[in-house]
Amino acid sequence: MTTKKRILTGDRPTGKLHLGHYVGSLQNRVALQDTYECFFIIADLHVLTTKPTRADIAEIPQNIRDLVLDHLAVGIDPEKVTFYVQSAVKEIYQLNLIFEMLVTVPRLTRLPSIKDMARNANIDEEQLPFGLLGYPVLQAGDILMPRAHLVPVGKDNEAHVEITREIARRFNYLYGEVFPEPEALVPEVGTLPGTDGQGKMSKSAGNAIFLSDDTKTVEQKVRGMYTDPNRIRADIPGRVEGNPVFAYHDAFNPNVEEVNDLKERYRQGRVGDVEVKRKLFTALENFLAPIRERRAHYEANPRLVDEIIAAGNERTRAVARETIQLVEAAMGLTYFR
Ligand code: TRP
Repeated sequence: MTTKKRILTGDRPTGKLHLGHYVGSLQNRVALQDTYECFFIIADLHVLTTKPTRADIAEIPQNIRDLVLDHLAVGIDPEKVTFYVQSAVKEIYQLNLIFEMLVTVPRLTRLPSIKDMARNANIDEEQLPFGLLGYPVLQAGDILMPRAHLVPVGKDNEAHVEITREIARRFNYLYGEVFPEPEALVPEVGTLPGTDGQGKMSKSAGNAIFLSDDTKTVEQKVRGMYTDPNRIRADIPGRVEGNPVFAYHDAFNPNVEEVNDLKERYRQGRVGDVEVKRKLFTALENFLAPIRERRAHYEANPRLVDEIIAAGNERTRAVARETIQLVEAAMGLTYFR
């Protein structure tokens, strides 16, 4: 019998993960997996809020495999973490509908995240899908379905956890205590800049180093990285602050002495970009080595990933059935069954 508290976190399956994801969430997830009972949702229904076509859906299965593989590669243990696909657990649809009664339209309309998502997807106000407005309600269904206590998320999702807390409170008030009020766990770390130094690392900006990049690709990307643009020669003092090459050194080079030495010489104009980047490349290769090794293990037997997902779906459905039973009993929604 486990007495561990539950974590629910997850992602939309939209593509391969990169170093920014590692710093922002994966690292944290690896650290938390021993202390909590972990459920990681692969939120494919949330993808449909902005991309509902048949062609959009056709991309999802591979993205799901890539997402799980990236997690396994960085050291998530499938014995400790339950991965599951949102659309495979129908109880989430049920919870979503019930929760729709417990939140007001203005509360959702006021959320900046909805407008941001609409804008990013080129959807104007008149075309806003009902389902996109309901994005946070569905997310509340995700979080409360396993009756989670803790929700590790990025800052951009904090407001959705707050809505989830409000829905849990409202439900418990109307029908009796069923749900814990889950807490968001937002990492302190700043976001990792992209290789182009223009804002944060993201797939769409084309400035990402992926966890699945091979040696040659990493080398090319590091060599092409943006540094201090004013430093046209190695003997000119350079800026370390805001320089993505040094941000990566700080995040991925465990040799603090080497990093401090490079920073000092960079500031004094006593080191070339080539040396700084070569040492970063070496640090990244060391960081990626065990990740590649685990990936190779799973890639050698691709069925493993599918089996992990199938087993996770199964385990999650058992928990979901339990929750729906509690919910319907609390509401008195038990007639004519
Ligand atoms: N909204 C998250 C994102 O930005 C994905 C997500 C869906 C999620 N359901 C969740 C995250 C539940 C944490 C908990 O991609």
